[in-house]
Amino acid sequence: MPNEKETLEGRFALTRRQFIAGVAGAAALAAAPTLSAWADEDKRPSVADKIFNRPYITWQNDPCTTATITWQSAEAPKQVLVRFDTETRGGKVRKYAKEAEGRSWTIPCLPGRSINSVELTGLTPGTRYYFVLAEKKSGETTEHSFKTIPNDGSPLRFVAGGDQNWGPVARKLCELAGREAPMFTVIGGDLAYANGDPKNIRAWDNWFKNWMDGQVTPDGLIVPMVLAIGNHETNKLEGGPEVRAPFYLGFFPQGGKTYFSLRFGPLLHLIALDSGHIVPHAEQTAWFKEVVAKNADAKYHIPTYHVPFFPSHREFEGGLSVAGREQWMPIVDEMRAPLAFEHHDHTFKRTVPIRNGEKADDGTVYLGDGCMGVGPREIDNAGVWYLEKASSTAHIWVVDMADGRIACRAIDKDGKEFDSITLNR
Ligand SMILES: [Fe+2]
Ligand SMILES: [Fe+2]
Repeated sequence: MPNEKETLEGRFALTRRQFIAGVAGAAALAAAPTLSAWADEDKRPSVADKIFNRPYITWQNDPCTTATITWQSAEAPKQVLVRFDTETRGGKVRKYAKEAEGRSWTIPCLPGRSINSVELTGLTPGTRYYFVLAEKKSGETTEHSFKTIPNDGSPLRFVAGGDQNWGPVARKLCELAGREAPMFTVIGGDLAYANGDPKNIRAWDNWFKNWMDGQVTPDGLIVPMVLAIGNHETNKLEGGPEVRAPFYLGFFPQGGKTYFSLRFGPLLHLIALDSGHIVPHAEQTAWFKEVVAKNADAKYHIPTYHVPFFPSHREFEGGLSVAGREQWMPIVDEMRAPLAFEHHDHTFKRTVPIRNGEKADDGTVYLGDGCMGVGPREIDNAGVWYLEKASSTAHIWVVDMADGRIACRAIDKDGKEFDSITLNR
């Protein structure tokens, strides 16, 4: 287990610099949970019963033809069954035309809870599906709905953010994300700030509740999640990935690794990387090149990862930033990524377009820096050549992607658009 100092530091996500800065630190604290809130953590009412038997959606395979539906429950269901259809059946279990069965598992450090998951395959792209979690094949229960990704090159909309936590700002930004009706939301790490520690399970429960309540479109579709790993998904225990990131890997079926890539039809190949939290940068480099080559027919390749190559708050020479630039930036340049999503610094930032470590008109614009709920930090790197715009602003990015045009809007916690950029490429 992390010691108390590490845990508290992690929870507040305060750097030594901020702590010393005092005023900046106090500002960050004001927006973060207070010390007494954390001290009372075990007495906070549990919201577990409010998230049990409610589904969330990830992908282990093609987002155009599959969807993985997962839910938690206090006990394992007798049968892990989803019944589904392309028409609403009002929750009448028997009426759904198709069904698929999955499995349950437990997370070793989290007894008394079952994770239940079913992967639907062979789905039709760009199609709305209605489903029920059906322990039995009869009766009536809550109907849910999602949509597969189109595979015909039609426009995509998605939301990107990172560094959420579980407080009111995180909740508001989840709601604002849902309102934008994205086809999915990608989070670049630091989700619940539970530090891979079962003592902090209520942070996860609150995180899930925020997502489940908020990330639903006005039309009632569940917004699928694509989750990269951040430092706050991990503990400091000795052991393999499942020990170090028990909840990230235990809650979210995304292929079983901390790095993966997904293909969203002809337009988008999205690569989620692990910026050295479980797997070192260098160990992903060959794989990164390989998946880009394999998806050479994708119009756009976009990477998302936790630690920025071009930080707005932390030091440019920070070890994980340097590793990212050395190991991965040549690939990002080579694949002509129009955008890259960066996080971890708890700010808003947009860089100039960059190629080969310099400003270049056709370069990659790095958007970040992970501020979807945690207390915003100061822009310590203000004025540096690569920052086009930066501020201490909680936000989400909404991306509209069509063939030849990518429009990005930054939305703050009051729902106001405060920055935008359009790339015609
Ligand atoms: Fe982080
Ligand atoms: Fe963070």
